[in-house]
Amino acid sequence: MKNIYLETYGCQMNEYDSELIRSILAKNQYQIVNSQEDAQVVLLNTCAIRENAHQKIFHRLDELKGMKRRGEVEAVGVLGCMAQSLRKDLADRSPIVDIVAGPDSYKKLPNLLKAVFESASKGYDFSLSEFETYADITPKRIAGVNAWLAIMRGCDNFCTFCVVPYTRGRERSRTVESVLNEAHRIESEGFKQVTILGQNVNSYKSDGNDFADLMQTLATETSIPRIRFTSPHPKDFPRRLLHVIADNPSLCKQIHLPLQAGNDDVLQRMNRTYTKKEFYTLVDEIRKIIPDVALTTDVIVGFSGETEAQFEDTFEVMQNVRFDSAFIFKYSERKNTIASRKIPDDVPEHAKTERIVRLNELQRRISNEINQTEIGKKATVLIESQSKKDANQWLGRTDQNKGVVFSAEAKKPGDFVDVEIIRATTNTLIGEMIPQKKRSLNLLSL
Ligand code: SAH
Ligand code: SF4
Ligand code: F3S
Repeated sequence: MKNIYLETYGCQMNEYDSELIRSILAKNQYQIVNSQEDAQVVLLNTCAIRENAHQKIFHRLDELKGMKRRGEVEAVGVLGCMAQSLRKDLADRSPIVDIVAGPDSYKKLPNLLKAVFESASKGYDFSLSEFETYADITPKRIAGVNAWLAIMRGCDNFCTFCVVPYTRGRERSRTVESVLNEAHRIESEGFKQVTILGQNVNSYKSDGNDFADLMQTLATETSIPRIRFTSPHPKDFPRRLLHVIADNPSLCKQIHLPLQAGNDDVLQRMNRTYTKKEFYTLVDEIRKIIPDVALTTDVIVGFSGETEAQFEDTFEVMQNVRFDSAFIFKYSERKNTIASRKIPDDVPEHAKTERIVRLNELQRRISNEINQTEIGKKATVLIESQSKKDANQWLGRTDQNKGVVFSAEAKKPGDFVDVEIIRATTNTLIGEMIPQKKRSLNLLSL
């Protein structure tokens, strides 16, 4: 029997996949361990979204090379999106790699491991499936407050910059029944929050049910207190979903709405299929129907052909929309993508740097201004963990997914606590627990 140490990189979908991998391996008599020293096998579940994701793994493989030479590790496997993107090249470049397996190959992992240990051969599998959803596997979750739940896999959008359609293959949805069964299991295991995952949840489709139907079903049929989802694509945002969110208290008032760029020519080159005007209209509608919603986004700066003036449009949209927070990335050309074949990565590095710095400065200012307006407000916070900076404080999140740090005795992760926001920084709110008595008075005065 071999002990396995599994490391996860990349997005929430990979976190979820790692839970599937743990489940598949545990069923096949492999022991998953929490410390690398106890393991004979190290598996890396990797990401390919930007070049720095690859660099991180190559660096890690360099470390593992020394360990393998010293006999501290017997086998190394690379799984996930980078494995699918680089395939055999990965093992050619890093000969210590014994297993390379893509996101649809995890059921074959026990066999691949067997090949490595019994016939000293390498184990490769990169077959992408049109059907694999792992709906029949019960993820082996790490205990905590939040549970991930993937309702679909793959992506058919082919944004020209993006590697995901090539690493995760065609889009396929699970049935409502299988999603609901998993949600019920999550509920009975005591998770207080579930995050529904898909590369583009808006295109969820199963037996005549769309994403709004699925969310309504989850809100009605389960009593999980908080239900989140990520990510919707702005191009096909079902308006009914907004009403479903507004009408159901368990659906969190927070939407991650990736903008990518605020200039129509750039959006067109990206194949995002919406315009700046349509994005504004959607934001207005979201805020009209869900007035207390928090909006977050993703932006890419320096995409192929982006001029200063086109970047200014993105800057302006960020200024006008005022997202609560944003992830901003420099464009990184990816293998196989449409952009890598047809639209040269021609924005100089220094311009990308300048633009990301400017946009981050703007966003930090906006996030801070928005957070300052939270001072004096009350919020119900779900405790997630101890605060990293101070073990005597808790870190929790509001419905809008804002982090709040506060102290409260006799509380634990998974508890809901009412707090008043007393201070705010760019990234964090600082709260004070509202004593029980004061809270009931407040409720009476409502
Ligand atoms: N499916 C999700 C995105 C997943 S990738 C969605 O459509 O919302 C997360 C983010 O990474 C994207 O929103 C995009 O902003 C960024 N990204 C994707 N490809 C990139 C690339 N080649 N270079 C830089 N950033 C990229
Ligand atoms: Fe990539 Fe676009 Fe699909 Fe998101 S929607 S995963 S950015 S191709
Ligand atoms: Fe996620 Fe990275 Fe793959 S963002 S889908 S792990 S390329």
